[in-house]
Amino acid sequence: MRIDVLTIFPEIFGPALSSSILGRAACKGVVSYHIHDIRDYTTDRHRSVDDRPYGGGPGMVMKAEPIFACAEAAERMDSREPRRVLLTPQGQTFTQAFAQDLAGVERLMLICGHYEGFDERVRDGLEVTELSIGDYVLTGGEFASLVVIDAVVRLLPGALGDEESTKEESFSSSLLEYPQYTRPVTFRGMEVPEVLLSGDHERIRLWRREQSLLRTARRRADLLCCRRDPDCLKQPDAGKENQ
Ligand code: 6GU
Repeated sequence: MRIDVLTIFPEIFGPALSSSILGRAACKGVVSYHIHDIRDYTTDRHRSVDDRPYGGGPGMVMKAEPIFACAEAAERMDSREPRRVLLTPQGQTFTQAFAQDLAGVERLMLICGHYEGFDERVRDGLEVTELSIGDYVLTGGEFASLVVIDAVVRLLPGALGDEESTKEESFSSSLLEYPQYTRPVTFRGMEVPEVLLSGDHERIRLWRREQSLLRTARRRADLLCCRRDPDCLKQPDAGKENQ
């Protein structure tokens, strides 16, 4: 996958995209990151990326021209048409399902907003999907786009060491994860549950499933309301367990 990021703060991305799994995925050739500075596509003396809103009011608005020029220049660097995503608090909320959808595209273009918003013609003229990462306000779209990149890249085949690890996790299965322990057996008076030391794989499987259900019911009961997908709690071997 090729990921293009359009931003006025390109320096934010270097360390985040060269560390850990995101960095390793790039080294392995699973993904390539291309960071573009919107300011490089301004044409005025002051290199301004924003201006005062028509009609008055507080704050500044991001200008359309440099964003279009930057997007067009980035698009000329590769023949594939990207899925364009505008990071803004007004977008639809980013979810695991959306991450999975984006993980299927060959090219992703993330456009980071700032100030009071974009000139509306960025939305009208560029064919973008607007995404928010949650109901809170950030200073800009940079960290939101890093969240999207992180969630998407780890889903790409070959990005994670252990391919299994994306299958059983929270939200993909609609359940939160069960409690995990590693050595020592006793730590500051707190014990590892006996069942995990039993070696009885069936008992362990059932205990983990029960813990996932309990934890989800207590913390995120909203995930158990399956109006959209009545089968979301079914597992391939659910029949056995329900008897
Ligand atoms: Cl994508 N941008 C900003 N500025 N704030 C946000 C956001 C995005 N998602 C949640 N809050």
